[in-house]
Amino acid sequence: MPRNPGRFITIEGIEGAGKSTCLAFVRDRLIQAGRAVLTTREPGGTPLGEELRALLLGHRQEGMGEDTELLLMFAARAEHLAQKILPALGQGTDVLCDRFTDATYAYQGAGRGIARERIAVMEAWVQKGMRPDLTLLLDLPVEQGLERAGRRSAADRFESETGRFFQAVRQGYLELAAAEPDRIKRIDASLPLAGVERQLAEVIDDFLKSPVSGLKPTSP
Ligand code: TMP
Repeated sequence: MPRNPGRFITIEGIEGAGKSTCLAFVRDRLIQAGRAVLTTREPGGTPLGEELRALLLGHRQEGMGEDTELLLMFAARAEHLAQKILPALGQGTDVLCDRFTDATYAYQGAGRGIARERIAVMEAWVQKGMRPDLTLLLDLPVEQGLERAGRRSAADRFESETGRFFQAVRQGYLELAAAEPDRIKRIDASLPLAGVERQLAEVIDDFLKSPVSGLKPTSP
């Protein structure tokens, strides 16, 4: 009997939102529900994607143009989709991804100021209408996130941005969530861990009850 297509779930949020902890929690919940799960991340997830990630996150004396940054994000994504995400979904494995295209709208769009329409062109080109089935947006005040992130290792190229940049990124994420409330679920990540996990469990359990949508081309 053919297996159901897997579901594509993404986790988003500004730095210090607790993505790694939440990803592990969601993965365990899916596995407990009997799902096969592949966890991965963007930018990255493939050998070439990880090399692009190093270029994107590393500090460069000469800087990096906004368009270059955008194109490299989508180059890594094209590779990730072809090599890893689509094959896994096709085999009925759920894919749980730390960031995806909502991050591009939030960081390169709201943060850097690249027009939404230009990002949409890249999205249509690379994804051909494919989008996550569910996105968990871990939302918390920028100050709280940066304070948490600051306790970790040396800041990468994005983590070195200003509070103003992250305010714009957070706002960008909230606007995406408001525009697509069925797909993007806002999680209050400012709460203690138990409170965050309670919200995640509720959203995941609801999601698992919904009919499998699998790969959803939006183009006619
Ligand atoms: P992280 O996944 O370890 O948080 O780091 C990835 C960084 O890359 C993070 O600062 C957000 C940034 N990013 C973008 O700017 N655009 C994107 O499309 C993606 C996937 C990530």
